[in-house]
Amino acid sequence: MLANKKLLVLAGDGIGPEVMSQVVNVTEWMAKKRTVSFDVSQGLIGGACYDAHGCALTDETVADAMCVDAVMLGAVGGPQWDGVARENRPEAGLLRIRKELDLYANLRPAIAFDALLDASTLKTDIIKGLNIMILRELTGGVYFGEPRGTDVLPDGTRRGFDTQIYTDGEIERIARLGFEMAQKSRGRLTSVDKANVMESGVFWREIVNSLHKDYADVELSHMYADNCAMQMVRDPKQFDVIVTDNLFGDLLSDVAAMLTGSLGMLPSASLGEVDESGRRRALYEPVHGSAPDIAGQDMANPLATILSFAMCLRYSFDMMDDANLIEQAVQNVLNNGLRTGDIMSKGMDKVSTAVMGEAVISELEKMTG
Ligand code: IPM
Ligand code: MG
Repeated sequence: MLANKKLLVLAGDGIGPEVMSQVVNVTEWMAKKRTVSFDVSQGLIGGACYDAHGCALTDETVADAMCVDAVMLGAVGGPQWDGVARENRPEAGLLRIRKELDLYANLRPAIAFDALLDASTLKTDIIKGLNIMILRELTGGVYFGEPRGTDVLPDGTRRGFDTQIYTDGEIERIARLGFEMAQKSRGRLTSVDKANVMESGVFWREIVNSLHKDYADVELSHMYADNCAMQMVRDPKQFDVIVTDNLFGDLLSDVAAMLTGSLGMLPSASLGEVDESGRRRALYEPVHGSAPDIAGQDMANPLATILSFAMCLRYSFDMMDDANLIEQAVQNVLNNGLRTGDIMSKGMDKVSTAVMGEAVISELEKMTG
């Protein structure tokens, strides 16, 4: 039976549209060859939305996002919007959709593909076989904390400030997910904070510890965020699942990306609560940004976005076989020596975005015969 899944595609800015069009091709291939079809609608976000509507995300698009099964997002931002007021900056659109859909859990897996070991700046034995998950809290912390702003003191001193703030409920829901993910993985959870400096860090640690009794089979450890960044480049394979706050997760996931060779390889899933209809709000996006320097040149790596779509199949649609198939196709393409510029090494074939996307589809074809 053909199941129809509703997808909202928000391609965004820079390389977003180019990499996303490769995903749309994958959905079309699936509709032809697999037992699923997709009802794909498109919307604007980021600078593209600002240019059209004067804001980085419209209420209509938020409403559309609430009605679909999953959102696929490309990237937002670019230098042409540098002068725009903060509330209308492209990034504000991304932050708003995360908040409006209450996508509190951001899953950023960092997997080192054997074929790409050379592309990492780290030594092969440090990263070979790497498979870790960074679970980033996405709707709280200093990204959204109030008060925030700039003001002027009576003596004329100007200052800027943000607030790092977490409620017990916010910590509990992300920590529980971390424990559950560790249970399904290698049984180890590292909670990352700055409890040596921050009150909110002490509180974070207290809540995480209080939940451990419900997951006695998980080995829980705590690490300060600065040490974690260092350990991640020193010996990343010591980690299994890392759970951390919004800001530390932002930093650590960029570090994790480079372990795998390129930001151009890292997918992500942002998940919310399950609603009354049994559907979990979800948005999938590559971890890389809009890469304005190479935008529109058919040079960008579409694999992180294609892998994000595989995560969509896995987490939103429970289509494990299809998710595995796409991941295997990506792996085969890399094994065949195809490389976009960001993962290029000697002796490999440098290909365009479109050729990389087509190669994934032809691998899918081959595997499904
Ligand atoms: C990310 C990005 C965003 C963030 C930016 C674009 C707002 O860096 O998704 O990691 O800081 O969360
Ligand atoms: Mg980031």
